[in-house]
Amino acid sequence: MGSVAALRRVKNAIAVARAVLEHTEHTLLVGDQATAFAIAMGFTNESLTSDWSRESHLKWRQNNCQPNYWRAVTPDPQKSCGPYKPLSLKKKSSDHLQQRRTHLVDRTHHDTIGAVAIDAQGRIASGTSTNGATHKIPGRVGDSPIVGAGSYCDQEVGGAAATGDGDVILRYLVSYQAVENMRRGMAPEAAAKEVLGRIPAKFPTAQIGLVVVSAKTGAYAASCLNIVGGFPYVVGVAPGGVQNKTAKCIG
Ligand code: GLY
Repeated sequence: MGSVAALRRVKNAIAVARAVLEHTEHTLLVGDQATAFAIAMGFTNESLTSDWSRESHLKWRQNNCQPNYWRAVTPDPQKSCGPYKPLSLKKKSSDHLQQRRTHLVDRTHHDTIGAVAIDAQGRIASGTSTNGATHKIPGRVGDSPIVGAGSYCDQEVGGAAATGDGDVILRYLVSYQAVENMRRGMAPEAAAKEVLGRIPAKFPTAQIGLVVVSAKTGAYAASCLNIVGGFPYVVGVAPGGVQNKTAKCIG
C-alpha cells in the first residue's frame, strides 16, 4: 500500500500514492514533504486553482464562510469567518461539544472516486482519491488516504472502497470492516449493509456510498446511506464493457 495526504500543488494524487507504494517502504506521506516527494518522482509542481474553485471560495467567504467545520470557538463559527479562538471551558456547553453538522458533506461537497479491481490473474487492488470535503479546515485529512477507511483490500478475501462523509467513514473504518465481514463468511451485499448499518445510530444524516468485491468469486455489491436517488456506481467486466448501476440506500 501507499498513500499521500494534504498533498498540495500536484495533480493526480493517486499516482503519487502509487509512487509511495512502488518506490518506498513507507505507507503514508503528508503535506509539503509529500509534495517534495512527488516532485522528486517526476510530478509537476503547479497551481491547482481553477476559475471554479476561486469563485466557489469567494462566494463562501461572502456568505460568512458558511457552512464550515468549526465548533466550540469564538466568534460564532455559524456567523463568522474567524480567526477563531477556543471557547473557555466555562462557556463550552455540552451542546457545543456534541453539536454535529448535518449534511455538510453531500455529493456536491466532495469529488471522491473509489475503485476495486481484479485482474486476469485474480489479483485484487483498491484505491480512492479525492480533493476532500469542500471548505474543510486546512490540514484536515479525510478517509480517502487512510487504508481501511477510504479503501482496503486483501488478496485472500476481497476489497472495498468508500465515498461520502470522510469524518464518519474514518470512525467506522468502513472499508476494512466490509472486507473483514467477508472474511467471516458474508457475501459482498451483506458485508456492505452490516457495516453501514452500524452508523445511523450515531450519525443519522451521514451520506456514505460503499462498493465491495469478493476476491474469491468476483461477486460485488454496493450500498449507501442517505444518498437521495441511490448511489451510482459502475461495473466493468473485460471484455464486455461497462454498466452503470445504482445501489439503493439502506437508510
Ligand atoms: N470522502 C471524502 C472526504 O471526506 O474527504
